[in-house]
Amino acid sequence: MPSASVILDDPNLLFVNAGMVQFVPFFLGQRTPPYDRATSVQKCIRTPDIDEVGITTRHNTFFQMAGNFSFGDYFKRGAIELAWGLLTNAVSEGGYGFDPEKLWATVYLDDDEAIELWQEVAGLPLERIQRRGMADNYWSMGIPGPCGPCSEIYYDRGPEYGVDGGPEANEDRYIEIWNLVFMQNERGEGTSKDNFEILGPLPRRNIDTGMGVERIACLLQGVDNVYETDLVRPVIDKVAEYARVPYGNHSSTASDVRYRIIGDHSRTAAIIIGDGVTPGNEGRGYVLRRLLRRIIRAAKLLGVEQPIMSELMVTVRDEMGPSYPELVTDFDRIHRIAVAEETAFNRTLAAGSRLFEDAAESTRAAGKSTLSGSDAFTLHDTYGFPIDLTLEMAAEAGLSVDEEGFRGLMAEQRQRAKADAASRKQAHTDLSAYRDLVDGGPTEFTGFNELSSQATILGIFVDGVRVPVVSHGGAEGTVELILDRTPFYAESGGQIADEGAISGTGSSATAHASVTDVQKIAKTLWAHRVRVESGEFVEGDMVTAAVDPQWRRGATQGHSGTHMVHAALRQVLGPNAVQAGSLNRPGYLRFDFNYQGALSDEQRAQVEEVTNEAVQADFEVHTFNEKLEKAKAMGAMAMFGESYPDEVRVVEIGGPFSLELCGGTHVHNSAQIGPVTILGESSVGSGVRRVEAYVGLDSFRHLAKERALMAGLATSLKVPSEEVPARVATLVEKLKTAEKELDKIRLASAKAAGANAAAGAEQVGKVRLVAQRMSAGMTAGDLRSLVGDIRGKLGSEPGVVVLISEGDEGSVPYVAATNRAAQDAGLNANELIKQISSAVDGRGGGKADLAQGSGRDAAGIDRALAAVRAEIARS
Ligand code: ALA
Repeated sequence: MPSASVILDDPNLLFVNAGMVQFVPFFLGQRTPPYDRATSVQKCIRTPDIDEVGITTRHNTFFQMAGNFSFGDYFKRGAIELAWGLLTNAVSEGGYGFDPEKLWATVYLDDDEAIELWQEVAGLPLERIQRRGMADNYWSMGIPGPCGPCSEIYYDRGPEYGVDGGPEANEDRYIEIWNLVFMQNERGEGTSKDNFEILGPLPRRNIDTGMGVERIACLLQGVDNVYETDLVRPVIDKVAEYARVPYGNHSSTASDVRYRIIGDHSRTAAIIIGDGVTPGNEGRGYVLRRLLRRIIRAAKLLGVEQPIMSELMVTVRDEMGPSYPELVTDFDRIHRIAVAEETAFNRTLAAGSRLFEDAAESTRAAGKSTLSGSDAFTLHDTYGFPIDLTLEMAAEAGLSVDEEGFRGLMAEQRQRAKADAASRKQAHTDLSAYRDLVDGGPTEFTGFNELSSQATILGIFVDGVRVPVVSHGGAEGTVELILDRTPFYAESGGQIADEGAISGTGSSATAHASVTDVQKIAKTLWAHRVRVESGEFVEGDMVTAAVDPQWRRGATQGHSGTHMVHAALRQVLGPNAVQAGSLNRPGYLRFDFNYQGALSDEQRAQVEEVTNEAVQADFEVHTFNEKLEKAKAMGAMAMFGESYPDEVRVVEIGGPFSLELCGGTHVHNSAQIGPVTILGESSVGSGVRRVEAYVGLDSFRHLAKERALMAGLATSLKVPSEEVPARVATLVEKLKTAEKELDKIRLASAKAAGANAAAGAEQVGKVRLVAQRMSAGMTAGDLRSLVGDIRGKLGSEPGVVVLISEGDEGSVPYVAATNRAAQDAGLNANELIKQISSAVDGRGGGKADLAQGSGRDAAGIDRALAAVRAEIARS
């Protein structure tokens, strides 16, 4: 089997982290495998070990896992035979030719059977077999799913790599190369590698193995570490062309670690962008951003002056492209995204680093060793520093970071993301209660051909617990009915579930329930969430399941409308507008897609026009089943990261106009969609845009409402609708003129106030003084222009002007001015401002001739004026 994308649709798994992930439904017995055995080389991402990269000889964030799998076919003996053979057979026989004396094995604590098989099949002596606990030798994906005891094969690199004593003693010398998992149980939730609930045995005993291609390469190529193997080393050599520090073999200085980080992360970044991730602040996007920024920073620390991302991506493409052709076919996109992140980050790195240095300096100066949460938050918020970068820089500077404070400040942003996730309602149900029914086979979906079907109740659940009967008023909680067949569409592919009713027949004809939601369980079983309105339902009853035809008509309009908008978007924006998600229900649709920047009004209008033209063209809607490969070759659009079965359903609207893989329900002819009105276009995250639209009657109603709104405006403005914009423009113009008039009047009255104030000057010693409280509401600007005016009117005697007012929102602006004669007499406006400041709890300053300030305590105004008088009297 080819490698799956590193993104599969399990919301609990950030990235595919093992070869077995694409086979999980086979292990769990949710799907029947079409083959009993398989092998693959899977692209794997593991970022929990990111801090080990470059420091140990063997950790990668991206690596290739070669594996062989048995679905109820061979078990322990077969797995051990196959692995031992491949490792130790001579190269001429197709093996790797490892010296059997160098190999060790570990087994799970009580797995005596495996110990015996290692001795018997491989001839391994007992002293090279070690028993280890759950954390090491009991494997799972880290989330609920298949699991089992495992046996790992290690290669002894010799005493120069560490102490004797086998894998238990040193995993750098004894390097793990292959893990054989005896996949036989299912696990539930848990908190760590050795603390999770085991729910019970899997339907069959399976084999899952994983061999680290990079580690094998390291040993076969005779190099010191995985970073120096022939697929990673070229990246290091590329960096060395530009760096100030050379890459020194076989040392583990800080600079070598940086080289290796770049080597490792460049591959990881290219691979995950290739599978559809763009840099962001959440989830996968955040992981990518962190990797790219670590590369950029490591390069800087190596003395690389110029941008280097472009060359790194080219090197990765050249090395990895032959194995992963998507790196070649999608190179433009990968390159564009990686380089854009570098450009953006370089802009802020310099400024952020300065801020960091200042913050670190003042932290140390204050005798502290912890950088504040708000510094970390500013670095994140303003300079785009991922918290991990701040943590790393702080550690290098011998400081820690108040992470809790940082997290608190981040909480609000996160809250939004959480609310968003919670609104996705496919909660992670405990599937064990449904296991019997899942094993009994899938629900038959009749809804493509009929809206009402006869069916048998196979199971009844209340809050996930199976019950024999449910009656009206009898149960609180979520009631689910599982039927053998149903016309109800279960929520999937962006289309929400059908509404309708399930009613009893025959002797239970009084039973009636309305269907509020339909969700799939284990992808195969339709669970109808219902409200029992009357009577009772018993397992085994015959019922009639009927979809509300009105609802379904709306739903088909919504879903077909989504395909039309998608096709129109690609026609207008080009093939880079890749679908990122969608949701549709009767009358409404929304469509998310990857695109940089907002759509212009013109583009928006064009998308709407193209959509409605295609509706009016009354295209026939044609659905058919096809082999996945063939459908893709026809150009059918699929969702990034979605896993599809071998045979898929294709929905074609208007020949080449729209062709998509889709399991949804659709109209027969595009004209049935009715008008489509685009409501708006917005951003829903970095590089992801959303269009929303009304469809059908709702679209008409929306337009009718807008028309009524316009009519109302026209009536109150007393002009015909077409003249509304011109009338509004005139009104705005008039308003501006009126405001200007008002300003003039204010100025004139201020001037008059100034003249009055000058006339009211008092004589204090030799000085003519104007010290006044002005009318409330005057701004600092008003005071400044007045003060000059008044000073000019005081003549050549020593003159001083001090004005204070109560400004907006409790502020107390004040200004002081002196003329030349006053300054010669030793009076200084700046000194006067200090007196005022202390009286009104303010701050201010300026020069000898003019100074100003702002205070917070209006009660001190009189005291301030008195202080000024006293000061002048003293002079
Ligand atoms: N799934 C097993 C692992 O990842 C083979 O180690």
